[in-house]
Amino acid sequence: MESSCLVVRIWSVFMSLFPLMIITMASSNLRANKVERLSLLAFKAVVSDPLGILSSWNYSSNLCHEWRGITCGRRRPRVKVLDLRSSQLKGVLSPHIGNLSFLRTLNLRRNSFTGTIPQEVGRLSRLQVLNLGDNLFKGYIPMNISHCSNLHYLFLANNSLTGEIPIELGSLLKLQELILRRNNLIGEIPPSFGNFSSLKVLSMKENNLRGLMNSRLGKLKSLRDLSLGTNRLSGTIPPSIYNLSSIQHISVVGNQLHGTLPSGLGYTIFPKLQIFQFQMNRFSGPIPSTISNASYLSRFGISNNTFTGKVPSLARLSNLVRLEIDDNNLGNEDGELDFLSSLVNCTGLELLDINGNNFQGVLPESISNLSTKLKVMSLGRNQLRGSIPIGIGNLINLFVLSFEENLLTGPIPSSICKPSKLSSLFINHNQLSGTIPFCLRNLTWLSRLDLSFNDFEGEVPIDGVFRNSTAVCLVGNRGLCGGVTQLNLPLCCSESSDGSLFPLWTLVFSVFSLAVGSILVLCYHCCVPLYRSNKRKAKAKVTVIPLLDLSLLKLSYGDLLKATDGFSSRNLIGSGSSGSVYWGVLDQQEETIVAVKVLNLQSSRASRSFVAECKVLKSIRHRNLVKLVTACSSIDFQGNEFKALVFEFMLDGNLDEMLHYSAHTVVRVPTVQVHLNLIQRVNIAIDVANALDYLHSHFHNPIVHCDLKPSNVLLEKDMTARVCDFGLATYLPHTSSLESSSNIIRGSIGYFPPEYGMGGAVSTYGDVYSYGILLLEMLTGKRPTDDMFTDDTNLHNFVLMALPERVKEICDPLLLQEKESSTSTKPASNRNDVQNDETRRVEECLISIARIGVACSVHLPKARMEIGKVVAELRVIRDVLTGTRMLRE
Ligand SMILES: *[C@@H]1O[C@H](CO)[C@@H](O)[C@H](O)[C@H]1NC(C)=O
Ligand SMILES: *[C@@H]1O[C@H](CO)[C@@H](O)[C@H](O)[C@H]1NC(C)=O
Ligand SMILES: *[C@@H]1O[C@H](CO)[C@@H](O)[C@H](O)[C@H]1NC(C)=O
Ligand SMILES: *[C@@H]1O[C@H](CO)[C@@H](O)[C@H](O)[C@H]1NC(C)=O
Ligand SMILES: *[C@@H]1O[C@H](CO)[C@@H](O)[C@H](O)[C@H]1NC(C)=O
Ligand SMILES: *[C@@H]1O[C@H](CO)[C@@H](O)[C@H](O)[C@H]1NC(C)=O
Ligand SMILES: *[C@@H]1O[C@H](CO)[C@@H](O)[C@H](O)[C@H]1NC(C)=O
Ligand SMILES: *[C@@H]1O[C@H](CO)[C@@H](O)[C@H](O)[C@H]1NC(C)=O
Ligand SMILES: *[C@@H]1O[C@H](CO)[C@@H](O)[C@H](O)[C@H]1NC(C)=O
Repeated sequence: MESSCLVVRIWSVFMSLFPLMIITMASSNLRANKVERLSLLAFKAVVSDPLGILSSWNYSSNLCHEWRGITCGRRRPRVKVLDLRSSQLKGVLSPHIGNLSFLRTLNLRRNSFTGTIPQEVGRLSRLQVLNLGDNLFKGYIPMNISHCSNLHYLFLANNSLTGEIPIELGSLLKLQELILRRNNLIGEIPPSFGNFSSLKVLSMKENNLRGLMNSRLGKLKSLRDLSLGTNRLSGTIPPSIYNLSSIQHISVVGNQLHGTLPSGLGYTIFPKLQIFQFQMNRFSGPIPSTISNASYLSRFGISNNTFTGKVPSLARLSNLVRLEIDDNNLGNEDGELDFLSSLVNCTGLELLDINGNNFQGVLPESISNLSTKLKVMSLGRNQLRGSIPIGIGNLINLFVLSFEENLLTGPIPSSICKPSKLSSLFINHNQLSGTIPFCLRNLTWLSRLDLSFNDFEGEVPIDGVFRNSTAVCLVGNRGLCGGVTQLNLPLCCSESSDGSLFPLWTLVFSVFSLAVGSILVLCYHCCVPLYRSNKRKAKAKVTVIPLLDLSLLKLSYGDLLKATDGFSSRNLIGSGSSGSVYWGVLDQQEETIVAVKVLNLQSSRASRSFVAECKVLKSIRHRNLVKLVTACSSIDFQGNEFKALVFEFMLDGNLDEMLHYSAHTVVRVPTVQVHLNLIQRVNIAIDVANALDYLHSHFHNPIVHCDLKPSNVLLEKDMTARVCDFGLATYLPHTSSLESSSNIIRGSIGYFPPEYGMGGAVSTYGDVYSYGILLLEMLTGKRPTDDMFTDDTNLHNFVLMALPERVKEICDPLLLQEKESSTSTKPASNRNDVQNDETRRVEECLISIARIGVACSVHLPKARMEIGKVVAELRVIRDVLTGTRMLRE
């Protein structure tokens, strides 16, 4: 009844508008229109429509004029366009959609349609645009879509479509854009895709496609944009693809593709290239130099591959916006960083990432002149030298700045605070020095600040980013103080009223002390805090520690010659088979005292990887190891190869002097303790074992010390031991068993293990031997070179034969003296009991120590005790000695 009324009404409208219209045609249109109306109402019936967009779709309103989202043809009242994008519709797509046989455009993008795409879509033979993207469609791409032979644009991106791409799609010969990205499609790219002779855009990224890239894609002569990233494609890029001269954008990011880039890229190959994204694959070889001509190029990304060689000049790439070449093996053996300078011409550059390559050389000042649009500059993990240019402040839009793990020196310029939106600053693991610019606290966006492992000193602010101890990392800087308590830094000392003579006095005193060869246990530690606070006030020119401004290769032979007064004997601290150690004063910026170890080079082979290995050595950080500050590789004035390691200088004594102090005593500073007691010796033994354990097991390749002996164990005032002179094994004369034994002595007589004398390779077992001897020397007070040891006796046997009853007899008499004086303070009543107990306890400990020393120094390398086990057992001994653990527990 209602519908017949409607028919009459529409009929009258039609009759009034087109009085001459042929009655039969009108009635067929009306019938068709009724099918469309019913089909659309069926479409509406299965969706929920929170915004009420479909409320206008009712029986009484005019489909062509009143229904939202519907457009009809001008000549015939048939539905041509159904566009309900972004309408928050939920539900399934009704198969009745297939009845809209005049539909040209179906756009349901950005809704929440779920379920499968009905096969009935294939009945829409006039369809040109099908956009079902950004929905929740599941299941397969319906094969029948291939019947929509007029499709130009097929957009199904960002759904949950699964299964293989139907090979039948290859019959959509009019397709210009096919966008299937962000689904779960599997299988290979169908060979029928080679049929798309009009295709301009093909995007299938972010699926699970496998297999080789189809060489038939090379037939898509109109292709402008090919996007296949984040799949599992493998093999190489078929050469036919490189014949596609229309390509402007190609992306294969995140597949398993390999091969090299064709020469001609950006010039004869892909002459219109704008976006090139080959990141995260296995490509290798050089960047073709023709890329210099790719004047339309705006994004060039090849991160995370294994590209090698130099980066060509980019000066002509005036459209470049993003350059991502990080995590490759790119480098510049000549130390020239021209390509960085050439980027100055890229006035639109926003992102520069060269992190994690082998770039070396002095950071060019010209990076300050890069585009002010630059938001991200990431130059970390290379071998860049020089300092952070003051002009860095020109880059006012910087958001992320990273220089980490390079060899940069000098201070952080306070201009670094000019980019006010800076949010991440990574300059850890360099050799930067000076104070932390206070202005950093005013950068309100700054949320990640890593300054760790540099040589910064002075006060740490407490506000801004510094308030949040998880946002800042400051470890590995010895000179910092203050900051919020969570940072666990020492307090900054209040300023002393003394004048600026103090530091100078410290220097003069230490130099004097050194020259006369005294033990310098005194005063250094008590002076330094005062001296530091003075320094800030008085800007004194002289520092002892921390070391500043030294960088690899920056110190020449001449510098060291000058620093050590021509390697004069007055500066000689000690010498051994690996070289001689001198103290010296470097007069760079601030005067700095260092220990310079000049390596005894008998073989040029030693030098091969000196710098690279030094980088490893410099990464060594342990409280029981002296820090290597820098290295010098050069040619001396006679034209010989010269290599030296520069260590942090410690003013305190060494274990050798402390053990054998009475042997060559002349004048001592009266406050110095006269000998090491048992607890101190055990603590030192633990420290040294810890240091060895770290060297042996903390790195991919164990670092063998090779010359462990008491004079290489330096002691701080609190008797913390720090081992020096490590890591030289690689630079020692390389030997083969054919060479005469006089050449192959490594390490020092008495401490080097028997196998070294017989041509055995240096090993961690050798270090354990030296350690065992050192421990026995600490126990007995006898050097292994003592005159009492002849050809058939040695320190090891001497102790072994005394085990266990006579250990007390062979111990350093100073140890037993001490025990008596300490127990005499106990109350008289039970003094004897306590004393007996104490005596037994100490004796047990002495025996245990002797056993460890003997076990470490046995003849057969592999039979020696493990250093980790040594640490554990010595800790037990210490606990027993201090009474925190019972005997035999
Ligand atoms: C529309 O198509 C479906 C199947 O595709 C059919 O069952 C239905 O009858 C049609 N609707 C109308 C109103 O003709
Ligand atoms: C049908 O839709 C039209 C247009 O929105 C509206 O004016 C009319 O009230 C609706 N009729 C019914 C019965 O819902
Ligand atoms: C799909 O296409 C086939 C012909 O290839 C046809 O027989 C079938 O009816 C179509 N299915 C639908 C639901 O339209
Ligand atoms: C993908 O589609 C969902 C659902 O419509 C939408 O919320 C999301 O923003 C889309 N993602 C992208 C990247 O367009
Ligand atoms: C599409 O290509 C395939 C092979 O790639 C071919 O067999 C088929 O005939 C082509 N289809 C059309 C409609 O051209
Ligand atoms: C690139 O590779 C590095 C390691 O080489 C890795 O840490 C990084 O996460 C990779 N980048 C991406 C985006 O996967
Ligand atoms: C880089 O820019 C400078 C100044 O605009 C210009 O003189 C120079 O020719 C440019 N270099 C190249 C290779 O285009
Ligand atoms: C920086 O911040 C401190 C306190 O957080 C404030 O006292 C000082 O005025 C600020 N300086 C500038 C230049 O904004
Ligand atoms: C501190 O910094 C960390 C790391 O940047 C961040 O996750 C955290 O939310 C910050 N906490 C506060 C209180 O700002």
